[in-house]
Formats: sequence, structure tokens, C-alpha cells
Amino acid sequence: YEVKWDAVAAEKGGYDHFMLKEIHEQPRALRDTLISRLEDDKVVLQEVDLTAEQLQNFRKVFIVACGTAWHAGLVGKTLIERWVRLPVEVDIASEFRYRAPLVDEHTLVVVVSQSGETADTLAALREAKRNGARVVAVTNVVGSSVAREAHDVIYTWAGPEIAVASTKAYTTQLEGMVLLGLYLAQIRGTLAPEKIKEVIAALKRIPAQAQEVIDEAEHIRDFAESFVDVEDTFFIGRSLDWNVAMEGALKLKEISYIHAEAYAAGELKHGTLALITEKTPVIALATQMDVYEKTLSNIIEVRARDARVIGVTFKGNKDLVKSVDHVIYIPETIAELAPILTVIPLQLLSYYVSVARGCDVDKPRNLAKSVTVE
Ligand code: G6P
Repeated sequence: YEVKWDAVAAEKGGYDHFMLKEIHEQPRALRDTLISRLEDDKVVLQEVDLTAEQLQNFRKVFIVACGTAWHAGLVGKTLIERWVRLPVEVDIASEFRYRAPLVDEHTLVVVVSQSGETADTLAALREAKRNGARVVAVTNVVGSSVAREAHDVIYTWAGPEIAVASTKAYTTQLEGMVLLGLYLAQIRGTLAPEKIKEVIAALKRIPAQAQEVIDEAEHIRDFAESFVDVEDTFFIGRSLDWNVAMEGALKLKEISYIHAEAYAAGELKHGTLALITEKTPVIALATQMDVYEKTLSNIIEVRARDARVIGVTFKGNKDLVKSVDHVIYIPETIAELAPILTVIPLQLLSYYVSVARGCDVDKPRNLAKSVTVE
């Protein structure tokens, strides 16, 4: 009898792939990223050293990143604009660095990077500093280039992410965006103290709620089988749901090679609807209740074209089921935190579809975990 020891399998901790392990690590990662940063009525960011005076001085915010981190930045834009009332531009780092962006000493530049080593993101950071901006980094790697060169850092405590498709880095980046938004709002006095308390209370529930979503994984696995021979899919939503739709589509493309397109639901009628035909799967996110009726009318439009619609909404919403083929429910939270939960079933869906199609989940073709060349 011989015990076979496989170091890689051991590192996967009993999971078939790093991606699945990392999806399951999210409750822990989300909890760690909040630890010591939340008091009942305020956010504390020890690594950010901005005075109230400096903060009052900002006229504009840029969020700059690549890939999944850029998707986290899109959510950050809505949160900061809504809570801090400052205009926010989100830019892809490889665009930002070459287009002479309007950045000066009144600009706060936020760079988001899991690895902290992405060449374009680092170059964007340097460009921002050269123009006199204050740079805050949201990164997962202590001592990374981005962490060292930024003025301030908000670490995500996701732990090492091995799978190329980012999961726990994204959800903790979303927390980073929430923490930064609250921090700026509390110093600039742009949010009512009750609202800050409400967001903090909701944030504290997020890790356990992420676990609840993960506990439904089996259900999504059964469902993924029906995607094996699919060629095109659409992910739609409005507002923050649209931003998560982009991340959901990227996940599916990256690891299962199924064409996926994310669309702002209200934009479908400007062309895309023609591509949605009988049985085309449409994943419709409907958690932003301020635009729920509008999203619903877009869902009804795609249904009229015989698309197969999978809706994602809050448990308490008993209405959506009437207009879609299938509903995935997530626990109740406030609109601004919904992305952290809605992305999890999309990660699981991509994962199981990739496995069902026999793809190399952790090492998809032509993709690198960290792109340190241009
Ligand atoms: C690569 C990875 C993506 C990642 C992007 C940005 O393209 O495949 O998953 O989102 O780089 O990486 P960063 O480390 O800067 O977040």
C-alpha cells in the first residue's frame, strides 16, 4: 500500500479546481476584508491617510483598472457618485495611460488591481502621479508595485487567487469600493449618519449571506448542464445589475468559450434585440428596485422573442417568477451591496458550464493571471 501525495491536489483543499475553492472562500475573504474596518457608525481605513481638507479639495475621481478589476470600478462609480456626490470616471488602464486624461491635483485616482503588478495599471498610476493626482490603490497583494507606489492603499484580504478567472478578488474589490465610498462620504459629510449605519449593518451580514448563496451551488450545477451546447448568451440588467452582468459575461467567456454579451437592459432595443432568438439564454439581473419595472419590461421584450430567461433577484421578490423561465434567488440586502451576492451564482454557473464542456477551468487558453507586459 502506498499513499500517493499530490501537492497540487492538496493545495486545492479537496476541491476539483482552484476556481471552485476560491468561490467557496468568499465568505471568509469578505469577512477578512471588513475586519477592523467597521465600527457601528463609521468606517476606519488605517492605510488611507487623507485629511478632511485634502478630501474637500477633490473635484473629480478616476477609477482605473483592467479586466475584472475594471468591472469592480464600474460599481465603485455609482457608489461614489451616489454617496459622495463627486463625478467619477472609470477607465480601462490601457486607455487612460495614452489619452492624456484630465487629471490634476484636484483629482483622486483609484487604481484597482488584484495582483498589483498589471503593467497598464501601474503605468496609469504613474501617469496619474505625474499629473499631481492623489492615488489610492485597492489591491490584494501586500508589497506589490501598485501598493508601494500609491499614496494610500486599501487591501482586499482575499488571500492568494490562483485560478485565472477572478472570483474572490472581485467580490472583495466590491467591498473595497463600498468602504472607500463610505469613507469619502463620512469625511465630506455627504451621507446621513443613519444611511452610513444602514450600509454598515448590511455589510456585516454580507459574508454569511454569501455563504447562503454558495450553499445553493448544487442547484446551479444541475442547471448548467443545459448550457453545454449553447453558442450565444446575453446578460442584461440596469444600473449596478448591468455592471455585474458585464462580470458574469466575462466569466462565461473566459472559461467556457461561450459567446456572452452584457447589455444595459434599456439599450437592447437599439440593435441587440435582433440577435436574441428562440431559446437564446438571457440572464437577467433584477435587484435594483428603483429601476425594477423598467428591467421587467425589457425582460418581457426578450421573452416575446422566445428567449430562455433566467432571472436573478431577491428572495422576497415573488413577482419576477411570473415573467421568466427560471429564477435564482439571493438574500435580501441593500441595492448597493447586491452586486457582491448576485455575482456568485454567475461565477458558479460559469464554473459548472466550463466543467461540463470539458474545459481547463483554472487555466483557460490564451489568458494569464497577471499581465505584466503591455
Ligand atoms: C488579467 C486576468 C484578469 C484580471 C486582469 C487584471 O487579464 O486574467 O482576471 O482581472 O488581468 O488583473 P489585476 O491583477 O490588475 O487585477
